[in-house]
Amino acid sequence: MPDDRLTDLRIGALPGNESLATRLAARLGAARLPIVVRRFPDGESYVRLDGDVRGADVALVCTLDRPDDKLLPLLFAADASADLGARSVGLVAPYLAYMRQDRRFQPGEDVTSRVVAGLLSHAVRWIVTVDPHLHRVGDLGALYPIAHRVLHAGPLLAAWVRANVPAPLLVGPDAESAQWVSAVAECAGAPWLVLHKERHGDRDVRIALPPEMPADRARTPVLVDDIVSTGHTAAETARLLRGAGFPPAIVAGVHAVFAHGAARTLAAAGVARVVTTDTIPHASNVIALDAALADAVRALATPAPDGRPA
Ligand code: R5P
Repeated sequence: MPDDRLTDLRIGALPGNESLATRLAARLGAARLPIVVRRFPDGESYVRLDGDVRGADVALVCTLDRPDDKLLPLLFAADASADLGARSVGLVAPYLAYMRQDRRFQPGEDVTSRVVAGLLSHAVRWIVTVDPHLHRVGDLGALYPIAHRVLHAGPLLAAWVRANVPAPLLVGPDAESAQWVSAVAECAGAPWLVLHKERHGDRDVRIALPPEMPADRARTPVLVDDIVSTGHTAAETARLLRGAGFPPAIVAGVHAVFAHGAARTLAAAGVARVVTTDTIPHASNVIALDAALADAVRALATPAPDGRPA
């Protein structure tokens, strides 16, 4: 149902985000803002807004997996929007990148989550994202001092589990995941446990079972995690639980990053199925988030009664 309050909202897609932008525009009754992005022969990015944005509220849609190629075109599109007279510019980034390097783990490292947050917060007035990797930083606002909405996919994953897995056991790979595994388990009405994980390298993850394991080994383990990247966390967990006598595991992830080789790694570990949300387009997507994202855009881009955008 088009929203009359958003008469001058334009939804612009950075490359690869056209489908989500079209669905958001339809839900919000907003116009699409075509954006031309290409590479110059020397590798620099070219960005052109193909429409008049004067006085409009612009929502740029850009999920930020594989972010290094996406960030500069996004910053250019945001700058062009503001420079050409948009009243406000916001960002829909269902997957927010550079959230894991939120501290200096080794001497000399850069804290890149802070740098990227600074660039984006400077470029846009508001941001909408889904389950950002907030393990050590409690609140997105601590990194992004702009208007923001954080959506949580847990209830939707739980609904999928409830509808599709008859006797699940929800499993989180590490203590940090207890927050959302317990919430998903509660919604799904299923038991849960968390394992102990140590990361020794990008593709070297060691997982240990807790001393107290459920006696009922007939339940299907559903591994719940925010990100499936190399797949090693999920693969090691699945392997361990299989060895302990459980059926093949299902992986329920929010963000299908799927770094090179992840699908092979998961298959080799005997994972029965991977299901994800569509924050990153992937064959494993089973949960669409455009309705929730549209609600968030509506809230952030709708002008307040005094005429100012949120
Ligand atoms: C880590 O803290 C995250 O929650 C995920 O467990 C991790 O990003 C998964 O990465 P990978 O698939 O490469 O093991």
